[in-house]
This record gives sequence, C-alpha cells and structure tokens, in this order.
Amino acid sequence: MVMAETKNKNLAYLQMDDKFVNPVLARSARIVAERASGSYIYDMNGDAYLDFACGIAVTSVGHCHPKVVAAVQKQVGELMHTSVVTHNKPYIELAKKLVEIAPFKSLDSVFLTNSGAECVEGAIKMARYVTGRPCVINFRGSFHGRTIFTTALTTSKLYYREKYEPLPGSIHTVPFPYEYRSHFRGDPKKVVDEALKELDTLFHQIVHPEQVAAIIIEPIQGEGGYVAPPPGFLPALRKIADEHGILLIIDEVQSGFARTGQMFACQHENVEPDIMLMAKAIAGGMPLAAFISRSELTHKWPAGRHGSTFGGNPVSCAAALATLEVIEEEKLCERAEKLGNMIMTRLKKFAEKNKHVGEIRGRGLMIGIEFNDEHGNPSKKIADAVAEKCLEHKMIVLTCGYAGQVIRLIPPLTMSDAEAEKGMEILEKCMTL
Ligand SMILES: Cc1ncc(COP(=O)(O)O)c(C=O)c1O
Repeated sequence: MVMAETKNKNLAYLQMDDKFVNPVLARSARIVAERASGSYIYDMNGDAYLDFACGIAVTSVGHCHPKVVAAVQKQVGELMHTSVVTHNKPYIELAKKLVEIAPFKSLDSVFLTNSGAECVEGAIKMARYVTGRPCVINFRGSFHGRTIFTTALTTSKLYYREKYEPLPGSIHTVPFPYEYRSHFRGDPKKVVDEALKELDTLFHQIVHPEQVAAIIIEPIQGEGGYVAPPPGFLPALRKIADEHGILLIIDEVQSGFARTGQMFACQHENVEPDIMLMAKAIAGGMPLAAFISRSELTHKWPAGRHGSTFGGNPVSCAAALATLEVIEEEKLCERAEKLGNMIMTRLKKFAEKNKHVGEIRGRGLMIGIEFNDEHGNPSKKIADAVAEKCLEHKMIVLTCGYAGQVIRLIPPLTMSDAEAEKGMEILEKCMTL
C-alpha cells in the first residue's frame, strides 16, 4: 500500500495478527475490516471497499442488513444457547421455514450445524447409516470443506490435501464435466457423455455401485473455478443414483439462497437431491448450516446417533429467519438474475478485446472469469495481478480454480446498479494489464 506507515491504522493490528494468529489462516485482502454496511467494508482508516466477495458468498443480503441485525439483537437478549439439552423456538421455526422453501416437497426433515464442512460430515454419516453402504463418489475439482473427511472429498487444489495423508478411504473421485478445459470444448453433450463414461468405468473397475452410499456434487463448482456442468449431467446423475439405490447429495453451500437466480442451483435443471446441503448465505453472516432430506430416510437414523453442541444456535437461527424474509421480500432471486445478466453481458463484451480472458461464465451472481497466458494455459499470475489491482482500487474480489486462474464475482444480491457499474469499471481497468 502506498500510504505512509504512520497514517495506516490497519498496520498495528496487522502486525499483531502476524504475531498472534496461526499463520495457516490465509486472508485474501491485507486490510482490517472494522465495520461493514450493504456492499461496502470499511477498514480501520475508514476507507470503503466495494465488496465482490461477500465473505465467500455469505453476506448475500448485504453486510449488516438492518432486519438481520434487529433479529440478532432481539434474540441475544432472550435466549442464546440450548444445545441438545432442550428444544428451542428459533430452531423449530427455521426447520419449518427451510422445509417450506425447499425446492422439492420430498425434502421435509432438517438438521442444523455450525459450518458447511460439518453439514457435509453429517450428511455422509447419515447416508452411510441409512444405506448400510460404505463408499462415496465425488468429483474432481470439488470443494466440500476442511475437516479430515471433507478434505478427503476435496480435490479442487492440491494444497487443500497435500501432507494430510492418510485421508479417509472409500472415496472414489471421477472427472467433472469442465467444458472449458475439456478436449471436447464446444460440444457439451460429448463433455457430459465422457464424464458419465468415466463413472460407468468406475463401477466396472473399482467399486460395485451397490457399495456406494452417496454421490456428492456441487451443482456449480465453487473453489473449483465457478464451473457449472453442461445441461443434462445432473439429471443423468440423478438417474444413475436411482438405478443403483445411491443417495444423491447436492452441496448448495456456495450456490444456495438465491445466488444463482433460483433459491437453489439444482432447480435450474429440476434435479431432486436425496440430501441437500446449505450454509454460507443462510444466516446473513451468522454461523449456521443445514442439511435437509426426506423424513422417510431421516427416520432410519435413530435419535442420538448424531448431534452438535452449537449447531442450530438460537441467535443464528433468528438471523436465518430474518435473512430468508429479506430474500423473499426483496425478491433477490430475480435481482440475482437481472444483475448477473447485466454484469455478464458487459464482461463478455469486454472479453472480446482482451486476449487473456478465456471465458466468462456463470449463473446469476455466481460469475467466473478464467484467465489464460499467451499459450492458452491457465494463468494464476494474471488472476492474482487483477485481484491485487482491484484491491488497490478499493474493490475486493477473490480467485478460485485448480490453478488459481479464475476471478470469481460474488457480490451482495442487494447491490445497486450504480455499485455494480462502478465495480465493472474498476475490474475492466484492472484487467487491462
Ligand atoms: C461447496 C462448499 N461446500 C462446503 C464448504 C465448507 O464450508 P465451511 O467453510 O463453512 O466449512 C464450502 C466452503 O467454501 C463450499 O464452498
């Protein structure tokens, strides 16, 4: 940063952070957030940063939405914690609400957790228990969390797994239909067929389908590079799962709650999960996650076989109830679609003149920009340089992708047209390297 050290109030805290915080905790932007409101984060100097990251797809209703803040403040004064000692009202009301907004009537039984990874773990435990089968199938490029089991399920980047071996077994990874980096780019049907062929081969060579409890998939890969599978792939998986009595777990942790223009991304192709995972944007910034399934399945999982001390904390549940109201009242599905189209159209036009932009893709406000070097190979260098320049211009963006070659745009769904235009101006300037 250009600012003189004495004037930079972030600095003392950054130095303390360097000293006292475990260095494994990497942060993308070296600023200290002091407060935030709507589409902006303010650092300790009072500088406003336009937020296209949303704390990784969490603050979708904008930072500190007044309705969410009021709900949290009210709940905090009434009841903060019960764990599994008693029932509590916000937990029950939220479970009812999640069943009401679930995209399929079959999804009618809810379990609340603290984090995305914890809800993946719970869903896998349940899938194994109720099917009596041991194995899980996941996809290349997937990200499902950082606990040991979810690390084993995560293949988006080597550095999430490296040196954590031995990882839990009975997980079989098959290729994800990533059209842009496929030999069959331009022929989405072939890309899908090829990926399905690999799954079929797996069933012949490595694991019998009757040993598989679940197939877990993100309907749009997040960490893996904001990659949606071509049309037809998710419905085909649904069919294969049905043929073999395998449960289909759809991980909507990043894509859920209006982000893609539908409440959940699996709705774009009307693919019904057996278990659906939700987290991140569910509670407007408070820690909470959930998995929802069919009561016909959950009733095969006896009471006490799973639990959580903090999962479904009343304050987080109150925040989630308020967040869901905001999503409905402010019609954020429609907003995500409209603003997403506006941003995509503008970026695609820009990309025509920029030799480093390989692809602009996305759904709603889950948008990826993939960068190439002069040979057409993925370029982390360019993506990092663009993100760094954006930060200098007081805009926060994150990267993703197996080589770190993608900039992902995840602004609040409440972002105004003017704020989005301002963001695009900064981004285009920073992409003109
Ligand atoms: C698709 C997906 N699943 C699971 C997780 C893990 O969530 P958490 O970081 O809350 O444990 C993430 C986090 O980024 C995610 O994107």
